[in-house]
Amino acid sequence: MLELRGVSKNYARMRVLTEVSLTFATGLNLLVGPSGAGKTTLLRLLATAERPSKGSIVWKGAADRRALRRTLGYAPQAVDLPDDLTAREFAMHMAALKGLKLEQADQQFQAIAATIGLHDDINRHIASFSGGMRRRLIFAQALLGDPELLALDEPTAELDSESASKVTDLILERAKGSIVVMTTHLAEGLRRHAASVLRVEAGLVTPQATQLLEPSA
Ligand SMILES: Nc1ncnc2c1ncn2[C@@H]1O[C@H](COP(=O)(O)OP(=O)(O)OP(=O)(O)O)[C@@H](O)[C@H]1O
Ligand SMILES: [Mg+2]
Repeated sequence: MLELRGVSKNYARMRVLTEVSLTFATGLNLLVGPSGAGKTTLLRLLATAERPSKGSIVWKGAADRRALRRTLGYAPQAVDLPDDLTAREFAMHMAALKGLKLEQADQQFQAIAATIGLHDDINRHIASFSGGMRRRLIFAQALLGDPELLALDEPTAELDSESASKVTDLILERAKGSIVVMTTHLAEGLRRHAASVLRVEAGLVTPQATQLLEPSA
């Protein structure tokens, strides 16, 4: 349903991705690889935050950025949140940008916040949020409106293990019906749940086994 066709990405003279062709199916698709390899770049391309230098991104058969953007939930790796808004105000601002019905979106936001342990904080100003709270807020806004495609960049970074597992459970729940593309440095626990594991390195994206092989006797 989501396809990259011969996608390359350069920054100035540096080539980050070289002729990447891939398809993503419903389920959890993990992007792994060393720091600086291009995982965020790949997600930014999927999220239409960047354009490929070459090649195209095809959603439901068409290279239509607007259609892709309409159906997308994106949790970036690094983003400046507006400190002077409450978490709830920020979420409703995002919902409005997505064209969602605000009453419904508010209910959904509260349910998500409760699931990931953020509910007591939604009416606080973001200025007072810790790194982990910010990370969960960025995650929560991505889920609003039940997007068919979720692009999640390190959604569990900076989280304590209890919060990380709540976020992970919700990701796995969403992955039953949506295409989830997620980067993580902690892929091992998720690998067996994944539809695909893709290693990004040296400009190339290489499929890996989703099951770790037992060491032979
Ligand atoms: N806007 C930009 N301008 C110039 N170079 C960039 C830009 N964005 C990323 N890069 C470079 O592209 C390469 C890939 O970066 P990217 O952020 O995609 O890596 P990553 O795999 O997400 O790393 P990490 O695991 O640390 O998040 C890096 O060498 C980075 O310096
Ligand atoms: Mg990154």
